[in-house]
Amino acid sequence: MNLYGKSFLTLKDVTPKEMHELLELSATLKHERKIQKKEGVFGERLKGKQIALIFEKSSTRTRCAFTIGCVDEGGYVEYLGLNDIQLGKKETVEDTARVLGRMFDGIAFRGFEQETVEKLAKYSGVPVWNALTDTYHPTQILAYFLTIKEKFGKLENIKLVYVGDGRNNMANSLMIGSGKMGIHMTIIAPKTLWPEKKIVECSNQYAKESGGSITITDNIHAVEGADVIYTDVWCSMGEEEKAKERIELLSPYQVNKELMKKTKKDTTIFMHCLPAVRGNEVTDDVIEGEQSVVFDEAENRLHTIKAVMVATIGNKETDRS
Ligand code: CP
Ligand code: NVA
Repeated sequence: MNLYGKSFLTLKDVTPKEMHELLELSATLKHERKIQKKEGVFGERLKGKQIALIFEKSSTRTRCAFTIGCVDEGGYVEYLGLNDIQLGKKETVEDTARVLGRMFDGIAFRGFEQETVEKLAKYSGVPVWNALTDTYHPTQILAYFLTIKEKFGKLENIKLVYVGDGRNNMANSLMIGSGKMGIHMTIIAPKTLWPEKKIVECSNQYAKESGGSITITDNIHAVEGADVIYTDVWCSMGEEEKAKERIELLSPYQVNKELMKKTKKDTTIFMHCLPAVRGNEVTDDVIEGEQSVVFDEAENRLHTIKAVMVATIGNKETDRS
């Protein structure tokens, strides 16, 4: 794996081989954490490393995964919320990046513009990790893939169906990741919420190389044969004022028992990045049902985010090869 010293801004930044290696490292770290917890010891892979978490938007899973992942391996974390620093208000992103780059070994950023995380990477001189922007959510996809591998033993040829808002950060990252990993991905969404052509074309290009495929449709019956049904909130952070319009538009795309039956498979699993709005994109009985693996995916945020930090700024040579 050749990720040491590099940023993780979108899934375009890693090759399929590196993605597989990151998932293997995540599985190792997951296993080792169980032993560390039992023995009451910490790892040392991030010993002496300081990381900054700049969060313009709220977060439970991602913030905690960066914090616990870093502390588990002996590092230090500084949380910088929207009202804690000058970023973009009294100070430019470029200047903030240069200052933090002199003090920290790595920076996680969650916010609105993809351009901000790219500027942070360009000007800080240290690895920057995208903890979610309006356009992409790459660390979520690693947790998603680790969970699929745990359930099915593979990623290649998995039939994954994403139902709902087909043009949000999750749909975009999932398309790129699926394209790279040989997954057959279908997005089912109303035409007005289809993804940007540019991202579809890029994902299709990856799919051609991996043997996967990307299909976009508004036909709900395309869930047939799905190994995985995925959905996400109908209004992403920052889109709260669109709630009424989205509920009207997306109600036929709700993941409920009836939709799960349409897969015609009893092995289909249900996934969601969380937080979920129960009663909107998914019903209570599905998210609480036997096919739901949402909390396995949530736990895997920790192990996969830890793997990203360890691979890009970690102390251990063997984690990087
Ligand atoms: N899935 C996810 O990113 O959750 P948070 O918004 O709680 O970090
Ligand atoms: N699409 C959602 C993902 C949350 C993890 C959002 O951006 O709010």
